[in-house]
Amino acid sequence: MRMYDIIQKKRDGYELSDDEIKYVVEGYTEGSIPDYQVSALLMAIYFKKMTTRETTYLTMAMAGSGDNLDLSCIQGMKVDKHSSGGVGDKTTLVVAPLVAACGLPVAKMAGRGLGHTGGTIDKLESFPGFNVKLDFNKFIDNVNKYKIALVSQTANLTPADKKIYALRDVTATVSNSSLIASSIMSKKIASGADAIVLDVKVGSGAFMKEIDDAINLADEMVQIGNQVGRNTIAIVSNMDQPLGVAVGNTLEVIEAINTLKCKGPKDLESLCIEIAAYMLIAGKMTSTIAEARNKVIAKLKSGEGLIKLRELVGSQGGDESFVDNPEKFEIAKIRKQVKLDKIGYVHKMDTEAIGKAAMILGAGRETKYSEIDLSVGLMVHKKVGDLILENEVVVTIYGNDDDKIKQAEDIIKASYTVSNVEKYKEKLIRAIVMKDEVERY
Ligand code: URA
Repeated sequence: MRMYDIIQKKRDGYELSDDEIKYVVEGYTEGSIPDYQVSALLMAIYFKKMTTRETTYLTMAMAGSGDNLDLSCIQGMKVDKHSSGGVGDKTTLVVAPLVAACGLPVAKMAGRGLGHTGGTIDKLESFPGFNVKLDFNKFIDNVNKYKIALVSQTANLTPADKKIYALRDVTATVSNSSLIASSIMSKKIASGADAIVLDVKVGSGAFMKEIDDAINLADEMVQIGNQVGRNTIAIVSNMDQPLGVAVGNTLEVIEAINTLKCKGPKDLESLCIEIAAYMLIAGKMTSTIAEARNKVIAKLKSGEGLIKLRELVGSQGGDESFVDNPEKFEIAKIRKQVKLDKIGYVHKMDTEAIGKAAMILGAGRETKYSEIDLSVGLMVHKKVGDLILENEVVVTIYGNDDDKIKQAEDIIKASYTVSNVEKYKEKLIRAIVMKDEVERY
C-alpha cells in the first residue's frame, strides 16, 4: 500500500477502504508516514468529506491506537458526557455530581483545555490538593464507593488522535465534521463508557456556527456511537452567548457550586438538568425524559448534588471546605468594570471574541505549553436580549496584568451589538439528536 495512492484516491473523491484507513492511522502513529503526507490527506478529506462508514472506521482505528479502559468492574451502565466546547461551559462540574447522586456511576476522564479557558481537569485543580491522576485501581474504587471519579486522560489514550489533532490545528483542517466527530468519539470510546451524551454547541462561540452544520455533526457522532454499540444521544445547545455568567477557571467552579446550591444562572441550570436527564435515559435508569428531569431536579433541590461534589473533592484529596465556603478561592485582585458608550438591547455577542478576551487574561492556553492562571476571567452581566441602561456594567474583568486587562476590555466592547429595538431571548436547546430521529426546537 502507498500513501501517495491513498491521498490521490481521496483527492478524487473516492471512499477509502478500512485497510487504507488502518494503514494511515497506524503508520502515522508509529512515525513511518510523514506529516506532509497526512497533511495532504487531511486537506483532501476536508474538501471531499468522508462517508459514515469511513468516519466510523477512522474513529475505531484511533480509539484502538492506545489504551482502552475496561470499566467492567464497575457495576451498572457507565455513561459519559462530552461538550464540543464553548465559552463558560462548566456543565460537567454540575452534571457529574447530579447524575452520581441519582445513582448512575460517573467514571470520567476529562481533558485539559486549549483555547479560551482550561478544561474540566484544570478547573478541578482550583480545589487545593485535588488529585487528577488517580491510579486505575483507586479510580475504580472511588466510582464503586462514591459513584463518581474525575481524572485526566491517560497519556496513552488515543495517541493517533493526539498527533492528528495537532496536525489539523496547524493545517486549517479542524472544522470538518467527520474529523471532529472521529476525534471526539475515539476518546469517548477508548474511555470505556457504555453510553454517551454529547452537548454539541452551535453559534458564534462554537466550531459550528449554523444549526444545520451542528445537527449534522451531532448526527455523525450519534450514528458512530450507536454503530459501535454505545447508546449515544446529542443535545444541540446555543453558544451565541457565553453559558452562565462566569468565564474563567476558578470563577466557573464557584458558579458551578452556586448552581448546585440552586443559586446559579438559569441557563446553566436548565442545560445541566437536560444533560443529566439524558444521561439517565442513555443509562437506562428511566424511560421517559419527564421522569428523568424530575429525578435530577429532586437531587438538585435536596442538595444531594452538592453533597456529591463535596464527596468527589474529598475523595480525590481536595479541600472540601471550599465547596461550603467558596469565598476561600483565590480570585484575581484587579477588577475592571466594562461599560459601553451605548444604551439599548443586546442583539448579538461575538462569543468567540469574549473567549479570546478570557484567554488573553490568562484563563486559557494558546498552545499546549502555555501556563494558565486559574484566578482570572470575566463575569458577563449582560447577554442577548438584556437591556443596557446608561452607565451599566456589561462585564467585570478579573485580571492580574493591566496591559492584558486593557486588551480584554477593548475586545469585549467590540463584541457587543446593541440596538434600541427589543430583542427576544434565544432558545437554549436547539435540537435533540437520537439514532432514529432529530427533534428541532
Ligand atoms: N474536540 C476534540 O476533541 N476534537 C476535535 O476535533 C474538536 C474538538
